[in-house]
Amino acid sequence: MNTTSIQSVTVSPCQCLKGTLSVPGDKSISHRIALLASWAAGTSTVRGFLRSEDSGVILKAMGRLGARHEFVGDLLRITGTGGGFKAPEGALDMGNSGTGMRLLAGLLAGQPFTSEMSGDASLSSRPMRRIAEPLLRMGAKVELLGEQGRPPVRITGGTLHGIEYAPPVASAQVKSCVLFAGLFAEGITTVVESAPTRDHTERLLNAMGVPVTTEGLRVSLRGCGPKGPMLKARAWVVPGDMSSAAFWLVAAAAREGQAIELPNVGWNPRRNALVAVLRRMGAAITFTESSDVSACESMGMIRVEGRRLRGTEVGGAEIPDLIDELPLVAVAGALAEGRTVIRDAAELRVKESDRIRSVVDNLTRMGVRAEETPDGMIIEGPAKVRGGVTIDSYGDHRLPMAMSVLALYADAPVRMNDVACVNKSYPEFWDDLKKVGGHVE
Ligand code: S3P
Repeated sequence: MNTTSIQSVTVSPCQCLKGTLSVPGDKSISHRIALLASWAAGTSTVRGFLRSEDSGVILKAMGRLGARHEFVGDLLRITGTGGGFKAPEGALDMGNSGTGMRLLAGLLAGQPFTSEMSGDASLSSRPMRRIAEPLLRMGAKVELLGEQGRPPVRITGGTLHGIEYAPPVASAQVKSCVLFAGLFAEGITTVVESAPTRDHTERLLNAMGVPVTTEGLRVSLRGCGPKGPMLKARAWVVPGDMSSAAFWLVAAAAREGQAIELPNVGWNPRRNALVAVLRRMGAAITFTESSDVSACESMGMIRVEGRRLRGTEVGGAEIPDLIDELPLVAVAGALAEGRTVIRDAAELRVKESDRIRSVVDNLTRMGVRAEETPDGMIIEGPAKVRGGVTIDSYGDHRLPMAMSVLALYADAPVRMNDVACVNKSYPEFWDDLKKVGGHVE
């Protein structure tokens, strides 16, 4: 199957999933390494870098700023600018990548030039005031050229000063944007989070010799002034993406007799709440740390065995730790005995699609009793999952993948249209589904 050109697929029900899968590299970590290695002096090598549309977008953007990259087999080599981006001509196309746009905005705020970032229709509808506000307060000029605070984003780097900033939403993207800008500021920059979010930026900066301190919900670094930090190239290993492993965890978890093993998956406490949720629902999941541990992230083998699941509730501080996995919590809820409630997750409404609406719509198409709430959803299980229907991807990569997992439990094949969006994070998804016994046409 030439996965990158697939527009629609039909996924058949499957009685028994089994096997071992290597999931693609972590998207969040790949983005951050692309940014930092492009600023650093020298050539960094990266093993396990995600090869997908989103990571391609960020590498291309960094190329426009003066960095170079090449893949030698699976090894990525990034030659950085040694602390001096060049002003790009024309807008940087960030495609569908919200992470790329928000994180790069932080670095661009520290540059002595004007730059602009634009994106596709989905990215052009996503909120950017959340990054504009702190960057303005730090001294950059930020113009949001779309309606109501949407992209394109034009940034004129200023002389920045450190701020203490409490983002109104718990967002690792916002935190990372502010920390990246803080690298170019005078004084200390502190982000005060409302709940802890993924900390890859902090770990990577610490590994590169820029101390970032975390005290409870306060994350701080001391800026290096307008010249920015002196970063040195180094070797990196990117673990497998927990958010991609998540599809297989749920796919195998809901039926006794199934088992899937996933080697080298990132095991960051801010990313593995889905495992806790599935265990609470009754799934048997083990983790064995591998000896080949990457510099600043734990990784290892996850093994999941199917069980009868029961419904659960997720909310509060757990939400940022499984924000991208919530469509899968809904799928698991549809397969579980009793009610599953997701709350405190209004952020889902501003992801690549309104994921509360798009998930509930697709669950309903498949015969699941599911209901939207303002900040989440309620799912009644176990559903008699209806096949013979067509799923709408909403152009959102996580949707067709999550619904494919449910389709494995349906009473007839399920058609999915407009699935090219899967290439954003997991181009090998359909091939991997076949590897564990699924049938996809
Ligand atoms: C990401 C953080 C999350 C997540 C996104 C990647 C990151 O967004 O949904 O896929 O790499 O920092 P928010 O932090 O805005 O919730």
